[in-house]
Amino acid sequence: MVYWAHMSTEKNMEEIVSLAKRRGFIYPGSDIYGGLSGTWDYGPLGVALKRNIMALWWKLFVDEREDMYGVDAAILMNQKVWQASGHVDTFNDPLVEDLETKQRFRADHLLKDAGYQVDGLSLDQLTQLIRDNNVKSPNGNELSDVRTFNMMFTTTVGPVADDKAVTYLRPETAQGIFTNYKNVVDSFYPDLPFGLAQQGKAFRNEISPRDFIFRSREFEQMEIEYFVDPAKWEEAFEHWRQQVWKWTQALGLADENVHELEVAEEDRAHYSKRTIDFEFDFPIGREELLGLAYRTDFDLGNIQRVSGKNMEYTVKGTNTKFVPHVIEPSFGVERALMAVLTTAYTEDEVNGEKRVVMKFPEHLAPVKFAVSPLVRNKPELVAKAREVYEILKKKYGAVMWDDNGNIGKRYRRQDEIGTPYCVVVDFDTLETDGLVSVRDRDTTEQRRVKPEDL
Ligand code: GAP
Repeated sequence: MVYWAHMSTEKNMEEIVSLAKRRGFIYPGSDIYGGLSGTWDYGPLGVALKRNIMALWWKLFVDEREDMYGVDAAILMNQKVWQASGHVDTFNDPLVEDLETKQRFRADHLLKDAGYQVDGLSLDQLTQLIRDNNVKSPNGNELSDVRTFNMMFTTTVGPVADDKAVTYLRPETAQGIFTNYKNVVDSFYPDLPFGLAQQGKAFRNEISPRDFIFRSREFEQMEIEYFVDPAKWEEAFEHWRQQVWKWTQALGLADENVHELEVAEEDRAHYSKRTIDFEFDFPIGREELLGLAYRTDFDLGNIQRVSGKNMEYTVKGTNTKFVPHVIEPSFGVERALMAVLTTAYTEDEVNGEKRVVMKFPEHLAPVKFAVSPLVRNKPELVAKAREVYEILKKKYGAVMWDDNGNIGKRYRRQDEIGTPYCVVVDFDTLETDGLVSVRDRDTTEQRRVKPEDL
C-alpha cells in the first residue's frame, strides 16, 4: 500500500532554479566565464521540454488549422522595418541611475517593489514620486531623474559601420510576419480571415533582467498575426481569446491560475487599441504569461506608407479593397516553460520518504520512459532490457537508459526529471511471465505488462 501525501503547496523558486541546473534543464548563460546577465542556456532536458512546447503550439495553431500559414523570417532586418514599426522612437523603458555607482534600474520596478502604484504614470510623475518619497537605489544612493532607454540591441551589417549599416536584433518576431504578408497573399491568395505564424528568437536589452528565465535579454516568441476584415475584428479577438485558454489548458495549467487583465489605454503598447494580458500565478507572483492585442492596421499601414507598396487586400470576386486589421496573440516560450516547470514541481512523501517529482503532462515530459535491468551485473537481464529499450526508443525517441545505482535511486532520479514511466526488466521477465514492470511516476504504483503493450 502506497502512502502518499503532499509536503507543501509553496513552490520555492530557488529550489526550482537549482533543480533546473542540476538536472540539465537550464544553465545560466556563459556560466564558465562568470555569466552574461539575462541569458540562459538550455541543457538536454530543457531543450526537449522547450521543443515539446513549441511543437504543441505549432500543431494546435498551424497544422490543425486551415487558415494558418507558417513563416520563418530572418532575425536581421532592414532598419526601415524598425523605423516604420515605431520601435526606434517608442520601444522604451523608464530608467533611473544610481548617482554613485552608475548602476541602472527600471524605475517602475524599483517603485513597484517599494510598494508604490506606478501604472500609467508619465516619466515626470515617476521622477516626482521618487523625489516626494525620497526613494533611494537598492544601494542606498540618490537616484537620477527618470529617463527613457531604448531596449533594442543595435548592430551593424556589412564592412562599413556608418548610419546606413545600423540595424537591430529583432525585439519581436511580429515584424518578420508583417513584412511577409504580401508575399504570402501573392503566393497563396488566402481567404480572409487568415493568419501567419512564426516562432523564433527575440532580443531586448532589458534594464533589469530577473526572475530566472521570466525576463531575459534573449528569448523566444511564438506569434500569430491574424488578418481580418476591419468590421470583424471583435469576432476574431474573441476567437483568439478562447484559443489562448485552449493553449493554457494544453500546457496543463489550471484555469484558476490563469487570469485575464484588460490593459488600460495608457499602459498599452503604442500599436494596440485593445490588449488583454493573460497572467499566471508564478511562484514569483501573478505576472504576464502572454498577450492578446488588436493591432488595427497600424503595421500594414506603416509598411504601405514607408515602402510605398500597396498592402490592400482585394476580397475575392469583388472590387472591395482594404488594408486588413490584425489580431495578435503573442506567446513567450520561456514564460510558458516557466509556468509548466513551476506547475510540475511537487514535493511529496511516499511511504514516509520525501521526494521531489516533476509532474509534467505526459505529452510535454522531456523523457517519456526510462528503461533499466533490475541489476546491471546479470548479462541476460541487461540484454532483455536493451531489447525493450530499443523498441521504445524507435517508437518514442525520448527514452532513457538508466542502470545506475539501485532501483530506488533510479526512481528518485527519474521522478526529479518528470519521467512518467519507469520500465524494469527483472528475473520474472526472464523466468516466468515475460512481463516487465512499469512504475507510474505520480502514483508510484507498479503494473506488469507485455513489453509490446507499452
Ligand atoms: N509582438 C508583441 C509583443 O512582442 P510583448 O507583450 O512585448 O508583445 C509578448 O511580448 C510576449 O513575449 C510576452 O507576453 C512574454 O511572454 C514574452 N516576453 C516579452 N519580453 C520578454 C522577456 N524579456 N523575457 C522573456 N519573455 C518575454
